[in-house]
Amino acid sequence: PLPMPLDLHGRPLRDLRLSVIEACNFRCPYCMPAERVPDDYGLDAASRLSFDEIETLVRGFVRVGVSKLRLTGGEPLLRKRLPELVARLARIEGIEDLALTTNGSLLARHAQALREAGLRRLTVSLDALDPERFRRLSGGRGEVADVLEGIAAARAAGFGSLKINCVVQRGVNEDQVLPLVEHFRGSGHVLRFIEYMDVGNCNDWSAEGVVSSQTLRDRIHARWPLRALDANYRGEVASRYGFADGQGEIGFVSSISAPFCGDCHRSRVSADGRLYTCLFAAEGTDLRPSLALGEAAFAERLAGLWSRRGDRYSELRALDAPRSKRHVEMFLIGG
Ligand code: GTP
Ligand code: 5AD
Ligand code: SF4
Ligand code: SF4
Repeated sequence: PLPMPLDLHGRPLRDLRLSVIEACNFRCPYCMPAERVPDDYGLDAASRLSFDEIETLVRGFVRVGVSKLRLTGGEPLLRKRLPELVARLARIEGIEDLALTTNGSLLARHAQALREAGLRRLTVSLDALDPERFRRLSGGRGEVADVLEGIAAARAAGFGSLKINCVVQRGVNEDQVLPLVEHFRGSGHVLRFIEYMDVGNCNDWSAEGVVSSQTLRDRIHARWPLRALDANYRGEVASRYGFADGQGEIGFVSSISAPFCGDCHRSRVSADGRLYTCLFAAEGTDLRPSLALGEAAFAERLAGLWSRRGDRYSELRALDAPRSKRHVEMFLIGG
């Protein structure tokens, strides 16, 4: 067996976030603005890793230390025969956590099959409850009612508690925060607010667009008192808070105001098989050639790549230190 590699900052590789498709049926302005990403955008299907390649890849990552796998997109539910892929990945020994992030629009249709295939956890992105606002934030492509229906279908299919992710932008959907909290409080689902980040090259991010987690927490606390909860595991991205009246919990992801690179055990792979060792990486490494060598040789190559990793972009940003200006697009690696 391979010794588990540590990167240049002593961090092990635990977590793989694998994009199964680069296409999306939404055009969220902060990710894939419609005026910059054409409707027919996408790779031809042959450029995507096949299910065989994906299985080899995941087995290789397990050899190097990964036990947590999250499928992402674009919108992963657009990938054909996804439940079949999930079933193959769910069987891999060493994968202890198998989750998927979706925009929820097609979830009502697919929740049952995904559950039966062995998917364990679901995260749904939801930036607004108001129908008109939601339409605008999905680039005119989505209906909030479909997402809410997807969330209900997931529950009916046996996914207990979902995570609901909301990216908050000043002056854009800040006013949706309290309604979202009110909606999901007591539902058993865990709503998380994410600080708007400078990922990708498509959004004209500026610090003014960020509403800090602290600000949101104060606002929510004023209405429904909160108390801090311990992390579920070391390196958990979201900080957890419980409602003092026992109506469940919420979370905050504070990459801008409180970077968490020190415990970052995450790697990302795009649908065409490129490895990104940071959400903000400029370049990826094509894994296809080493995948063709088979699981064991691939794992060795991967261990070598990980051991040379030095990424800590959010910490550098906080220090205003030199860092790459060009970033991989969010829709290629799924956040
Ligand atoms: P759990 O396994 O359920 O704890 O998932 P998670 O919270 O780690 O994953 P999720 O995809 O829900 O993460 C929520 C959001 O946090 C993502 O959409 C990203 O916006 C952000 N995020 C996740 N990982 C990173 C990271 O490594 N760096 C930065 N800067 N942001 C991240
Ligand atoms: N800042 C923070 N989160 C983002 N996401 C996409 N773009 C950004 C950004 N600029 C989130 C989506 C979704 C996940 C896939 O990544 O809202 O929850
Ligand atoms: Fe699609 Fe998600 Fe990007 Fe929105 S944030 S355009 S749903 S990949
Ligand atoms: Fe990890 Fe990069 Fe995010 Fe830091 S900025 S937590 S290194 S993905």
